Amino acid sequence: MTKTTPTRYSPLMVTLHWLTLLLILAEFILGETTSRIPNDTVAKLTPLAIHMLLGITILLVIITRFVVRMRTPQPAYASTGSAFLDGLGRFVHYALYLFVFLMAVSGLTLSGQAGLPQIVFGGVGSLPSDFYIFPPRLVHEFIAPVLLLLFLLHVGAAFYHQWFLKDKLFSRMWFGK
Ligand code: HEM
Repeated sequence: MTKTTPTRYSPLMVTLHWLTLLLILAEFILGETTSRIPNDTVAKLTPLAIHMLLGITILLVIITRFVVRMRTPQPAYASTGSAFLDGLGRFVHYALYLFVFLMAVSGLTLSGQAGLPQIVFGGVGSLPSDFYIFPPRLVHEFIAPVLLLLFLLHVGAAFYHQWFLKDKLFSRMWFGK
């Protein structure tokens, strides 16, 4: 039996795509606001707990999405007609998966080293005076702008397809027949 190439993404892939966007936007805002609260403020624990839980959810969603992407038929790569732009587009797609993964893993590593699960969820002990004594804190901070840059390249490419190449790329990443 031959597998046919679909013309659009599956409803599962579409759902995972837009869910990832929503979760990551919320996580960025939460991360930036939480990191501005001093560690000796008790009110920091709740936003930190939400940030950690959301981060773990993002990790599970991105792994699921990558596995579904690799194991199910996907539409053909939407070429721009330029080998350079096509190469860049492919690179950005894989880099997005990788850097979201690394962002979540660096957060988890930081959380482990700082003993956050016990402090935030168990109510045992208090937050360290400064997260920067743990190297993963710097990694977490360094990846944030890289992820933002990749995101902007990705959005820019999508609008380039939609408005200049007029190949209706957006409709492939939405529900329909
Ligand atoms: C893709 C998922 C994630 C994103 C996009 C994200 C985003 C961010 C951002 C933007 C910041 C502020 C960085 C800065 O100061 O410039 C931050 C801080 C932080 N994140 Fe995440 N994060 C994610 C996952 C996680 C996970 C899974 C954990 C732990 C389980 C975590 C724990 C933390 C901690 C402890 C801080 C430091 C807060 C502070 O300095 O007070 N993050 N995160």
